[in-house]
Amino acid sequence: MENKNLIEIAKNAMKNAYVPYSNFRVGAALLTEDGKVFIGCNVENATYGATNCAERTAIFKAVSEGYRNFKKIAIISDSPNFTYPCGICRQVIMEYGKNIEVICANRDGEFKVHNICELLPYAFTNEDIERSRINE
Ligand code: THU
Repeated sequence: MENKNLIEIAKNAMKNAYVPYSNFRVGAALLTEDGKVFIGCNVENATYGATNCAERTAIFKAVSEGYRNFKKIAIISDSPNFTYPCGICRQVIMEYGKNIEVICANRDGEFKVHNICELLPYAFTNEDIERSRINE
């Protein structure tokens, strides 16, 4: 699947964004290693803190359906700026592999591609937990 197609799918996912507080719609499209696409939108909450970003919606949908091997994720909003994942979403993406490509689009469909390791350097991962167990 080409990046521009994945962005188009992410753009469509923005339609269902539940954004009564920020009015900032975000869409994400996650491509699995075996070619399946999961979409997500942001889902806000009156407590603000319970808000779920579009990227995590897509990832949690995939994981809950038994998919854990991801190739890339596209993110888009109505912003003229490229939409980059927040810190929590970077951590959640990293959980599923160091080679996941993150495609950050602007409202015109222009995009930048980064490996998750570029967006979250010196990440804390499952390897750190395992290492500390070995040292016990
Ligand atoms: N948001 C996302 O869904 N993904 C991002 O990458 C950035 C932020 C959402 C969270 C909130 O609903 C709104 O955008 C404003 O922060």
